[in-house]
Amino acid sequence: MAQNTLTVTDNRTDRTFTLPIEDGTVRAMDFRQMRNGEEDFGLMLYDPAFMNTASCRSSITYIDGDRGILEYRGYPIEVLAEKCTFLEVAYLILFGELPSAQQLDRWVYEITHRTMLNETTKKFMEGFRYDSHPMPMLVSTMAALSTVYPDARDVRDPQNRLLQMKRLIAKMPSMAAMSYRHNLGFPYVYPDNDLNYTENFMNMLWKMVEPKYAANPVLARALDILFILHADHEQNCSTNVMRSVGSAQADPYLAAASAASALSGPLHGGANEQVIRMLDEIGSTAAIPDYIRKIKDGHGKLMGFGHRVYKNHDPRAKIIKRTAMEVFGVTRQNPKLEIAMELERIALEDEYFVKRKLYPNVDFYSGLIYQAMGFKPEMFTVLFAIPRTVGWLAQWQELVQDTEQKIARPRQIYTGQRKRSFVPIAERAVDGEPKL
Ligand code: CMC
Repeated sequence: MAQNTLTVTDNRTDRTFTLPIEDGTVRAMDFRQMRNGEEDFGLMLYDPAFMNTASCRSSITYIDGDRGILEYRGYPIEVLAEKCTFLEVAYLILFGELPSAQQLDRWVYEITHRTMLNETTKKFMEGFRYDSHPMPMLVSTMAALSTVYPDARDVRDPQNRLLQMKRLIAKMPSMAAMSYRHNLGFPYVYPDNDLNYTENFMNMLWKMVEPKYAANPVLARALDILFILHADHEQNCSTNVMRSVGSAQADPYLAAASAASALSGPLHGGANEQVIRMLDEIGSTAAIPDYIRKIKDGHGKLMGFGHRVYKNHDPRAKIIKRTAMEVFGVTRQNPKLEIAMELERIALEDEYFVKRKLYPNVDFYSGLIYQAMGFKPEMFTVLFAIPRTVGWLAQWQELVQDTEQKIARPRQIYTGQRKRSFVPIAERAVDGEPKL
C-alpha cells in the first residue's frame, strides 16, 4: 500500500532511514540524523537560490506556475482585479477575508487618515541630491520611518503591529510621490483626504496650482488594478528578504526597506524600467530579429520575459495588456507598444523561448502603461513597491505568528582554506591589486 514516507539508504554507512512526507515535502532537519561517523555533523541539503526549498507555510497567495494561476486568499486574481479596489484587496491579503461594506469604510478611513508624513520625514527627503533616483530615495525614507516611530520595535504586540502596518501602507504613496517630485524639482503636495488611495497618490504626484486635483477616472482605475496585481506574489526575492530580516525581529520599517532594496534589482521589480530601456534600444520592429539573435547568443536577457515560478503565461501580464489598451484610449498610445507586441509574438514562436517556457511576465507591459501615464522609467519600480508593501507586511505578520519560525540562518559548504600559518606583514609578498 502507498505510504507517505521516503526511504533513504545512506550508502556510506549502509543505514536506511524512513522520513515522513507531509504536504509534498520532507523536512531538511530529518537528514541531519544521517551521519558518517561520530564526528560527522550530519547530512545537509544544498540548494543555492532556493530552487526547491519551501521556507515557510503560508495561506496568503497561491500560484500554480504551470497552469498560470494566481490567487490571493483563494480568490482568482482576475476576479479581484475586475471587482475590487486596491484597499479592499489589501484588507483581504492582510486579514484573510474580504471586508464587509462597514469594515471597508473603517479600513479606508484608517489608512486615509495616516497618509501625512511627519515634517522631519519631508525635510529628510529634501536632503537628497536634486536628481536622485526615486527608488533609493524611497528605500531610505522607508527605513527612516523607523526613527519617527520607535514604538515599531515592539513586534510581539499584535495591536502595535497593526498600527505600524496601517502607517506604512498609508505613507507609501506619500513618500513615493515626494521622491518623484523631488527628482523633478517640484514642491511636495500634501495628501487630500477626499480622494481614494490611488486618486490621492495621483494628486500628490501631479497637482500643480489648481485648487483641487481631479484624477482621470480611467487612469485612476488602471493604477488601482496595477496595484492589485502587484500586491503579493508569495515567496519572491523581496518577500524572502522581508521574512529574513523580520525573523531577526527588526522593526517593520527596516524590514520593508530591506525588501524594497531587493525589489529594486533589475532581475526583480527593476525589470519594468529595463523593459522600456530595451524597447528604446531595439528602436523598431525591423530590428527585433537581430535583437533576439543576440539574446540567444548569450548577450543579455529579454527583459520582462521568464519567471522562476510561471512556466506558462503570467496571469498578471494578461490583465495588464488589457488594461494598457484602456489607458491608451485616454492617453497617447505608447509608440513602443507595437515593438513590444511584435517582440512578444516573435519570442513566443521561437524555439529558444518555447523550450525554456519563457513567457512575458508582469513587468513586460506595465512600463508601457506607466510611461503613457507620464511617468519616467525611474519611477516604475517605485510604483511596484507601493502595493507590494501590503504583501510584505502580510508575510511578515504571518512569520511573526508562526511558532515554527526562528531567525533565518542558512548553512554553507565551506570551500576556503583552513589552519594556515600566520605571516607577519613585512614578510608578505607584494603583488598588485587584490583579486576579487
Ligand atoms: N531572456 C533570455 N533567456 C532567459 C530569460 C530571458 N528573460 N530568462 C531565462 N532565460 C534562460 C536562461 O538563460 C536559462 O537558459 P539555459 O537553460 O540555457 O541556461 C533558462 O532560460 C532558465 O532560466 P533561469 O535563469 O534558470 O531562470 P530563473 O528562474 O533563475 O530566473 C528570472 C528567473 C525572472 C530572474 C529570469 O527569467 C530573468 O532574468 N528574466 C528577465 C528579468 C525579468 O523580467 N525579471 C522580472 C521577473 S517577474 C517580476 C518580479 O519578480 O519582480
